[in-house]
Amino acid sequence: MLTPAIPTITLALLLGIVVYRLVFYPILLSPLAKIPSAHWTAPFSRLWILYYRSRQQETPTVHNAHARLGPIVRLAPNEISVNCVDGGIRTIYAGGYEKGDWYINVFNNYGIPPMFSMPEHGPHSRRRRMFSNIYAKSTLQNSAALTTITKTLLKDRLVQRMREMSRSDKPIEFYYLFTAITLDFVSAYVFGLANASRCIEKPDLDRAFFEDYKMRQPYQFWPQEMPILTALLERTGLKWLIVPHKVSSTNNGIEAWILQLCDQAEIVMREADGGKEPAKPEDWPTVYAQLRNALSRDLLKQDLELGADASVQTQRMTKASEMLDHTLAGFDTSSILLTFFAWRLSRPENATWQEKLRKEFAGLTDEFDAKAVDALPMLHAALMETLRLHASIPGNQPRITPAAATLGVSDHAVSGIPAGVRVQSQAWSLHRNPQVFPDPEAWRPERWLESSETQMREMNRWFWAFGSGGRMCVGSNLAMYDMKAIIVAIWSRFETEVVFDEGMTHKGGYVAEPAGKDGRVLELRVTEL
Ligand code: HEM
Ligand SMILES: *[C@@H]1O[C@H](CO)[C@@H](O)[C@H](O)[C@H]1NC(C)=O
Ligand SMILES: *[C@@H]1O[C@H](CO)[C@@H](O)[C@H](O)[C@H]1NC(C)=O
Repeated sequence: MLTPAIPTITLALLLGIVVYRLVFYPILLSPLAKIPSAHWTAPFSRLWILYYRSRQQETPTVHNAHARLGPIVRLAPNEISVNCVDGGIRTIYAGGYEKGDWYINVFNNYGIPPMFSMPEHGPHSRRRRMFSNIYAKSTLQNSAALTTITKTLLKDRLVQRMREMSRSDKPIEFYYLFTAITLDFVSAYVFGLANASRCIEKPDLDRAFFEDYKMRQPYQFWPQEMPILTALLERTGLKWLIVPHKVSSTNNGIEAWILQLCDQAEIVMREADGGKEPAKPEDWPTVYAQLRNALSRDLLKQDLELGADASVQTQRMTKASEMLDHTLAGFDTSSILLTFFAWRLSRPENATWQEKLRKEFAGLTDEFDAKAVDALPMLHAALMETLRLHASIPGNQPRITPAAATLGVSDHAVSGIPAGVRVQSQAWSLHRNPQVFPDPEAWRPERWLESSETQMREMNRWFWAFGSGGRMCVGSNLAMYDMKAIIVAIWSRFETEVVFDEGMTHKGGYVAEPAGKDGRVLELRVTEL
């Protein structure tokens, strides 16, 4: 006969294990217990940080924790944030910690990860090497195709469009002006000018497309932070409870559009294989072609070695997944940055810089010269300062610790951190260290011109707008190229002043779009000189 004692003992044991696992271990025994907690519940629960993540308020929340508690803080039982260079970004990002599944849960176009979201080092670096040449600074600066793309898009289309718009009395919404021109720009390099988007020529600047695109952002929270729940709801047909149908249909629409551009680029390439290159070099799909040729070389090798059969359809989707990522990463980030740049130049408080830049641009010749534009010191300083204070990806970039990691610096260093801990840093906080950037909240381009050599070296070590290490932004040179070219095209010909800027605060998520207000973001009055 069963005595009642046995179930009672079992229950007590189970309870003991649960209390140990959920309370004693994380609070007292875990190697992370030495790290100051950003919130009193952090050692045993993620709930508090999930709350801020779901509301796109993580970045300022984590920033406050670092300001209070120092360069290393615990966000959850198995999550920490680190805000220093030595024992921080140098160890984690330059040290090649892997990405975990945070990226792949969201950036997994057509069900195939692009390099951005590949968790593992090996496949990522094989893919990444394929692009190193076409995104190198010297390649970009010496590319005749890109020079023609720049002239056509900026001098002809952008300036033309701004002239038309400035003639009517209405101010121009610069956020959508920039989303349009940066998408046209990056898609022209990826797919060739003839097949690229032509948003800037349209009177409504494809605003509906960009609004839909942006609307998806808050919903990334679910697959990213709650993957199991999301998968469960998906399997039971209940995903609409957390992610509206409209978001899924917008995602599908974007995928269909990029696939179509890839198929057009494929036609251009097949014709080139048959000896018929496009008549104009600017119509060559530079990025697509690079990936396509590298992949087919790989495939050839694989076929010989293994007799592997990667279907034509998988190949097509692999290319589309990568191209979608470059195109979207390329326009979204640069347009946010340019909007904050335009705001700085157009506010009365900072308007002296509009004059300074215009004087500097007056020394340029009429023909666009990428090297000359890149060498302008004031333009470079103003852009660096905007990337510092208004980084478009200022939020957490999570990685996973290997075994026995030591993180944090000097008094704050913590050793013996076990494998599998989620660790993150954020540009927002690195860029606001008052020892490195005195008066950190002030937009002061002078700091990039007048600081001592030692100070400048320190500033560059802490500058993290493009990340660092093997997974830093692959398109940073293209971004600098197009942002500088766009700035010169506008402010050498037009004067701008703020009409409406109530939307110019940052959202606090991974990407930091301007918050906007009632559908308006940054409206500027434009006067042609
Ligand atoms: C102002 C402009 C830009 C900023 C601030 C920016 C920032 C960043 C950052 C911080 C990362 C690392 C993200 C992470 O690991 O979580 C990244 C990666 C990446 N960026 Fe950019 N980016 C910009 C423009 C561009 C452009 C123009 C392209 C177009 C090719 C691009 C393509 C990519 C790609 C493909 C990756 C993934 C690289 C990899 O995993 O190896 N970005 N970017
Ligand atoms: C795509 O570009 C090629 C030239 O490279 C051009 O012949 C073709 O008409 C373009 N397709 C579309 C749909 O614009
Ligand atoms: C820009 O304006 C801000 C806010 O008024 C101020 O703190 C900063 O010093 C100004 N910077 C320049 C270069 O005018």
